[in-house]
Amino acid sequence: MQTFETRDPTDQAFWNERFDRNFMPWDKGGVPAALRDFVAQSAPGATVLIPGCGTGYEVGYLCEAGWDVTAIDFSPAAVDAARALLGPWAQRVEQADFFTFTPKKPPDVIYERAFLCALPPRMRAAIAARWAALLPPGGLLAGFFYFDDAPKGPPFGIAKDALDALLKPSFECVEDRPVADSIPAFAGRERWQVWRRY
Ligand SMILES: C[S@@+](CC[C@H](N)C(=O)[O-])C[C@H]1O[C@@H](n2cnc3c(N)ncnc32)[C@H](O)[C@@H]1O
Repeated sequence: MQTFETRDPTDQAFWNERFDRNFMPWDKGGVPAALRDFVAQSAPGATVLIPGCGTGYEVGYLCEAGWDVTAIDFSPAAVDAARALLGPWAQRVEQADFFTFTPKKPPDVIYERAFLCALPPRMRAAIAARWAALLPPGGLLAGFFYFDDAPKGPPFGIAKDALDALLKPSFECVEDRPVADSIPAFAGRERWQVWRRY
């Protein structure tokens, strides 16, 4: 078992240390099937923001599907890993803090995977507020939500009622399905959901 010097996932050093040591149990190593389905049923050319993109496999996939992608991560090690993977799409990844970043163009879609659950529960209200501020009316928050009640994380699971309470003031849930291709860290405890901004 590895030991780490950093313990605070709100600090970029926490994520740098894990990327630098290639300890990324959240990393899928590819594009989830539910995102592929979502792209297939969406209007072409959407503008998408990916907060906390990590290695960012989805960035190249979405760019190749014709989407206008901006991916951000506040960890320089994560940005380096994503850019190394993404070849021609490398410049779609920016080092930025989600809580202060303002995209050049309002996104049609915010893609969520393992960002909400990466941060402690006390950060949830701020994350939801930022999602709501960034998305225009009709914009979609689409992605994977991790449901669990273990007190320690990351990943920090959320209860269904707590997620509803967090999002329902600003969003309507328009899709909610189980996930068939989860990695072990999330298996049986994540769902694909799409929330539409009021
Ligand atoms: C658990 S990883 C998930 C990465 C990626 N979304 C995935 O599915 O593989 C969480 C990521 O969020 C990033 N992160 C955490 N807080 C952030 C913040 N305030 N702004 C931007 N990125 C942040 C971390 O650096 C890390 O890469």
